[in-house]
Amino acid sequence: MICNELWPHRLSVRTPGFQPGKRGSTPLGAAMKVLGIETSCDETAVAVLEIEDINNVKVLSNIVSSQVKLHAPYGGVVPNLAAREHTKNIAHVFEQALTTAGISDFEKEIDLITVTSGPGLGPALLVGITFAKTIAWKYNKPLIGTNHLKGHVYSNWLNEDFNAGSVVFPILNLVVSGGHTELVLMKNYEDFELVGETMDDAAGEAFDKVARLLGLGYPGGPAISKIAESGNRERFPLPRPMLHSKNFNFSYSGLKTAVLYLLRDLKEQGAEIDDQTKADIAASFQEAAIDVLVKKTIQAAKEYQAAAVFLSGGVSASAVLREKLKSATEDIGLRYSRPPMAYTTDNATMIAIAGYINHKYEKTDGSWQSVHMNANLGFKVVQGS
Ligand code: KG4
Ligand code: ZN
Repeated sequence: MICNELWPHRLSVRTPGFQPGKRGSTPLGAAMKVLGIETSCDETAVAVLEIEDINNVKVLSNIVSSQVKLHAPYGGVVPNLAAREHTKNIAHVFEQALTTAGISDFEKEIDLITVTSGPGLGPALLVGITFAKTIAWKYNKPLIGTNHLKGHVYSNWLNEDFNAGSVVFPILNLVVSGGHTELVLMKNYEDFELVGETMDDAAGEAFDKVARLLGLGYPGGPAISKIAESGNRERFPLPRPMLHSKNFNFSYSGLKTAVLYLLRDLKEQGAEIDDQTKADIAASFQEAAIDVLVKKTIQAAKEYQAAAVFLSGGVSASAVLREKLKSATEDIGLRYSRPPMAYTTDNATMIAIAGYINHKYEKTDGSWQSVHMNANLGFKVVQGS
């Protein structure tokens, strides 16, 4: 759900004071109501989930207030503007999430608070973390900091037919967003290892920059996808950077520069950059960008003997990527998953699930003092990668 309105509301809050030994908690195994908070980039998002176990997750509310229009004139997200907007909106989004979920008594009904602690834009992350710490302290609730990228991975658990009980490890995750392009090997719920990453621009960033070159506005991914539908993907052969490198890393800045030079050359030749030419460039770029993602993911899945390939992150909204990765994984007999469309881009539902799993497996103490912002939070690196 995308919403930009503000919702007036008054909170009735008691201040019990923090009691580390007695933080409100529900025994694991009983259904828990989990609040998720996400402010790492340009979406202010709050969600409430009822989680009985990882196979029984019910989304009670999923509110996302997008700042896309605010940042569009700048062609990308401006960190301090994002933080100011999060500060303006977070209490309202929180209220809307509670109302939609039918939560009338936060103190009694919410069992666990989770918040994105990184990676992301520092000033933006701090707004969500500070808000989360404040309510955790006020209501004496456990608070879990969550890795945003793990959140994207867990957006796959939101598929209607997803059966976590039948999940087979290791899972090779391709996480592709505006800030990240990562291959992450998930050996179990506690063990994530980074197998490959971009050396420069993220895939989503390349979509955004190429869209800007074509005058398509921000965010570029959806705009490129749309016009590429009527484009000829073979008209302009573009490079596939690092396709044959001996590791599983990516590079996207060269591909973006190739589009820049292509446009310059076409203009020098006196060609008109009409809508069809733009569509052909978009389709050719998309083909090159996705080709590398799919091929490297399949190579890594083979190398690490993955049992499944999971796609996630904002770029997983690309229908072409979803389809191509599906058929490539099926060709080698691996299981494949991608998130429901509604959970491809940033949201707090995925953060609530990741936080719940952290709480269950990673044995953090759950105090609000234990949560710290880490704008560069990542994964353990596989040796030699
Ligand atoms: O995960 P996300 O919402 O935010 C970050 O964590 O960065 O990802 C946003 C990125 C943007 O770069 C956007 O252009 C890209 O996801 N994106 C797409 C599509 N929809 C969103 N890229 C390609 N095709 C799409 N349909
Ligand atoms: Zn994201």
